[in-house]
Amino acid sequence: MKRIVVLISGNGSNLQAIIDACKLKKINGTLSAVFSNKADAFGLERARVAGIPAHALTASQFADRAAFDRELIQEINAYAPDLVVLAGYMRILSPEFVARYSGRLINIHPSLLPKYPGLNTHRQVLENGDEEHGTSVHFVTDELDGGPVILQAKIPVFEGDDEDEITARVQHQEHAIYPLVVSWFMEGRLEMRGNSAWLDGKELPKQGYAAEE
Ligand code: GRF
Repeated sequence: MKRIVVLISGNGSNLQAIIDACKLKKINGTLSAVFSNKADAFGLERARVAGIPAHALTASQFADRAAFDRELIQEINAYAPDLVVLAGYMRILSPEFVARYSGRLINIHPSLLPKYPGLNTHRQVLENGDEEHGTSVHFVTDELDGGPVILQAKIPVFEGDDEDEITARVQHQEHAIYPLVVSWFMEGRLEMRGNSAWLDGKELPKQGYAAEE
């Protein structure tokens, strides 16, 4: 069975969706361990409840980003993962980390990339009066939120929406698409070639997989 390691920093609702999908065998893989850069992340509790080893590393105990990531790599490698999943991991990765897991490192970002890389995406959507918003699952490369998109989900933005409402609407979609992408990877259907994502031997368009109308 292929192995998955998940990195989190907070609530871990996407982690929960992946835990549930593994339990329901919608993902054909084992969630081997969860790591957090915050000891009080609620996601660690979710992992423990599910009987998954849960670890926290504290940045202040390391000289710099490279040293932190070197330790993280060592601890992750003890689980020999096939896939490393970033699920609300709010820490910039060192180039060494990205290179180490290149092609088997994915992230979920709450915007329709390439729109709004970085932080505060929901606020920017509201400030700009966008009528459409969403979330993207992508392979991770050295460019922040810039790696090839695998799958996006769109949501409408209604007049009078506040940040909490669109966050919840986006997260509802995330909990559906992230486990799906993980399952594709576990089944060997998904890979990164160069700067593109490929599914079932076909190069995906820039906005990721698009179901036929
Ligand atoms: C998600 O909205 C994800 O897009 C972003 O951080 C959030 C994490 O939420 N990267 P959770 O910790 O999975 O609940």
